[in-house]
Amino acid sequence: MISLKSPRDIEGMRRAGRIAAEARSIAGRMIRPGVTTLEIDQAVRAYIEEQGATPSFLNYNGYPGSACISVNDVVIHGIPGPLVLQEGDIVSVDVGAYIGGFHGDCAATFPCGQVSEEAARLIAVTEQSFWEGMKFARPRCRVSDISHAIQSYVEAQGFSIVRDFVGHGVGKKLHEAPEVPNFGNPGHGPRLMAGMTLAVEPMVNTGAWQVKVMPDGWTVRTTDGALAAHYENSILITTEEPEILTRVEE
Ligand code: MF3
Ligand code: CO
Repeated sequence: MISLKSPRDIEGMRRAGRIAAEARSIAGRMIRPGVTTLEIDQAVRAYIEEQGATPSFLNYNGYPGSACISVNDVVIHGIPGPLVLQEGDIVSVDVGAYIGGFHGDCAATFPCGQVSEEAARLIAVTEQSFWEGMKFARPRCRVSDISHAIQSYVEAQGFSIVRDFVGHGVGKKLHEAPEVPNFGNPGHGPRLMAGMTLAVEPMVNTGAWQVKVMPDGWTVRTTDGALAAHYENSILITTEEPEILTRVEE
């Protein structure tokens, strides 16, 4: 069952989305050589709690952080800790905020100082793949039209798309129906309708698409050790362009 959000629900989703987006932005501005991933996590948590919200990920299935901070070949679900960021690293920050009964969920990959040309291109392609998907995030399209647009763009740029983790509906729960894969043939899956809210989150590798989960049960790395990036927004399907719910106030 895919929930359709009422106008009131949508107000709640905007509020949660704004807090998640601002937390992502705060984390992004902290990325520099010498900072630890734990310091970033603590700032994310402090901001979310100051807003009267709760970090969506903290204690979710036992997850120990407020943010997921994934460096270089870590694709997603990196656990914040004493790791010190170095010049040239790429750092993915994923955050969720829960307030008023709704979740906002978003992520982005940031360069730490000067990064390689390939790393910079990976970050740009990953974000652009999200926007390629948005061209199909409208009524009468189907979920896999978004998936196909993301995969086609990423592969045309010479990178690969992760298969083992997917986007999802978002709302009263962090993970709702439907699943939103970042790969696949067009014309499959549920038809999109105004009022659906989705978290679309391409994960892109410079090498092969395969990933493995580390013994900590969370950290996901590329199997070949190549770089990975992640970009995510929570969106609302409308009768026209999708509305980006995880956007910072101008
Ligand atoms: N954006 C991720 C997701 O949609 C973050 C979840 S991390 C977890 O699943 F810790 F909450 F699991
Ligand atoms: Co998500």
